[in-house]
Amino acid sequence: MVKSYSKTANHNMRRPVVKEGILRYMRTRQKQNDGFLAELEAFAHQENIPIIQHEVVAYFRFLMQTMQPKNILEIGTAIGFSALLMAENAPEAKITTLDRNPEMIAFAKENFAKYDTRNQITLVEGDAVDTLSTLEDEYDFVFMDSAKSKYIVFLPEVLKRLKVGGVVVFDDVFQGGDIVKPIEEVRRGQRTIYRGLQHLFDSTLDNPNLTATLLPLSDGLLMLRKNAEDVEL
Ligand SMILES: C[S@@+](CC[C@H](N)C(=O)[O-])C[C@H]1O[C@@H](n2cnc3c(N)ncnc32)[C@H](O)[C@@H]1O
Repeated sequence: MVKSYSKTANHNMRRPVVKEGILRYMRTRQKQNDGFLAELEAFAHQENIPIIQHEVVAYFRFLMQTMQPKNILEIGTAIGFSALLMAENAPEAKITTLDRNPEMIAFAKENFAKYDTRNQITLVEGDAVDTLSTLEDEYDFVFMDSAKSKYIVFLPEVLKRLKVGGVVVFDDVFQGGDIVKPIEEVRRGQRTIYRGLQHLFDSTLDNPNLTATLLPLSDGLLMLRKNAEDVEL
């Protein structure tokens, strides 16, 4: 059994932000994964490892095939499922993915060795707090899927490395709906995340140098387009 994720780790993933019936339809009616992606998805579900939900898989497939980004950064690799999904659907892309959890890193390495057949993916080990500032590339697509309270902390370094016209996607930004409540109604243990996400929204949603959109997929996606070289948050 995988040690890193307990039975309660995915608290918000079990609090859908759209009607249950719609959610079920989106998860069952949209094209399913096949081959190794289906195996990795099943493994993650069995071991309670949080990976992107199926409605986000379908959306990423569409985004990757349409945008065909050339240089992708991901913060939060886990077992490598979303990195391999992006690689499959953007075969020209180079992908750099960051993770700090040794157990996840071991799984990701094994999966990349087996399934990253075009050698598109580079795994950078260590806390993104330290590794992000060492990256020298410029990216046209960034996927943020790590600790949610840190999204706002990582954003300045991410924006520095994002091309004008580039896109950042943040997963799980609605906190199972907590984000619209006053802080007193949010469980104490969830308040750091709540504050971090509120700060993220305040810094981005009306920012003149970003175009922002919120999508009710999974536990919510925030997407940003960088519109100017310098973005003040
Ligand atoms: C939700 S999982 C990523 C799932 C993956 N993107 C997918 O959909 O297949 C989050 C991952 O982020 C990693 N993580 C969280 N905070 C991090 C940090 N500060 N630096 C590096 N990795 C981090 C965790 O170790 C975990 O493996």
